[in-house]
Amino acid sequence: MKKSLFPENFLWGGATAANQFEGAWNVDGKGASTSDMLTGGTHTVPRRVSKKIEEGVHYPSHEAIDFYGHYKEDIALFAEMGFKTFRMSINWTRIFPTGMELEPNEAGLKFYDNVFDELKKYNIEPLVTISHYELPFALTEKYNGWAGREVIECYTRYCEVLFKRYKDKVKYWLTFNEINCGTMPLGGYLGLGILNEGTESFMNQVDIPQLRFQGLHHQFVASAKAVKMGHEINPNFQIGCMIAYMTTYPFTCNPDDILVAQDRVKMHNDFCGDVQVRGEYPYFAKRFFDDNGITIKMEDGDLETLKEGTVDYYTFSYYMSNCASADPKLDGTGGNLLGGVKNPYLKASDWGWQIDPKGLRYTLNELYARYEIPLMVVENGLGAFDKVEADGSINDSYRIDYLKEHIVQMAEAIKDGVKLTGYTPWGCIDLVSASTGEMEKRYGFIYVDKDNQGKGTMERKKKASFDWYKKVIATNGEEL
Ligand code: BG6
Repeated sequence: MKKSLFPENFLWGGATAANQFEGAWNVDGKGASTSDMLTGGTHTVPRRVSKKIEEGVHYPSHEAIDFYGHYKEDIALFAEMGFKTFRMSINWTRIFPTGMELEPNEAGLKFYDNVFDELKKYNIEPLVTISHYELPFALTEKYNGWAGREVIECYTRYCEVLFKRYKDKVKYWLTFNEINCGTMPLGGYLGLGILNEGTESFMNQVDIPQLRFQGLHHQFVASAKAVKMGHEINPNFQIGCMIAYMTTYPFTCNPDDILVAQDRVKMHNDFCGDVQVRGEYPYFAKRFFDDNGITIKMEDGDLETLKEGTVDYYTFSYYMSNCASADPKLDGTGGNLLGGVKNPYLKASDWGWQIDPKGLRYTLNELYARYEIPLMVVENGLGAFDKVEADGSINDSYRIDYLKEHIVQMAEAIKDGVKLTGYTPWGCIDLVSASTGEMEKRYGFIYVDKDNQGKGTMERKKKASFDWYKKVIATNGEEL
């Protein structure tokens, strides 16, 4: 066998988020989170943000795929695939139901002890996102989410509990999922828990950029404080950032297109990465704030805090790429958090996300050149409709093709000299879609029998990609 390009201890695995797969939304003391208030939708019908739980309405996170009740079975399946790592998040509201308690909820902590112990049984290293698109809804009601500076303290109290309790069980942490979603209107509620008067539709929120960027500043400070505290509690902790990387090409070589594309990369990708990796706002932030009438209120010590709490590694999600153009009349295309202009050289998924494996190699090189710290791809994958055949098999060859091509490009990037240390494809088991609330937008190696209306037996079934990925891991990425 040829020698693999992937390092020997490469972290192969899969990724999930608590609010999209745990279910048990009000069990054992858990409080309601921002995601628990989102109704089901489809790619044509947007999800609604409801301020109260409404009778007879479907809220996909409430039951999700009930990992809460199936964690042993699910982890056994991950182990069978040979996972070295498992990316999961903790539901903040299991630990602090309103975010404002001073003492944590023991039943919530115990659940994650059980999950970590189960992972340990199979030598699977947990990779834990502390906050993945959920905030105690009570903090939204009281402070308008992260717009309120008070939330920093609620978050650091939560982090302290996690770091102390799981000091010897978890080494890899991520402070916030896709923190840069706060640079876009969609991230107002999704990432920051900001719910402005008049917002009903998740896709079309009432947006106040001043509040969003202030909220983001609070998250930066909170993240930096957490990194510093984590390292004091256990110097072996590896604490990273997580960015939804929006790979953007200029649509043409017209200098106007080049500048539009550069602007998007600066504000939507580099802005957050620079603060979290370099510990300071980038040079271009000032002009952006001036042009948009934004003034960030800072307290004494904030800038020092950012410097003291820089991350150990950089992680990101990568699903697709987009083009940017100065011409507003050009055809748009869908995307993860942000759409763009269609690229004539690329095909797209059923949800309009353009498939671009080479863009991943390009992105890995861009990021490594900028930061020169270890990188991990902690989300990547194809959301698709899967069909269960009469004999029970699920032949998701399209998913295998997608993942295979991306792994080939990761190997190329490693050959280029990029330090890539892990890969956790998204939704390794089918789960609820964040953008649409659908179950039928599936990403998994493991199928879960449940539909968009929440009906199904919850039975788990292996897809063709299950055995394929198992072989990829067993050969350390050599046999694709
Ligand atoms: C990322 C999020 O943006 O994309 C996940 O971190 C999300 O939470 C994933 O599920 C895929 O997006 P979607 O909308 O297809 O679920």
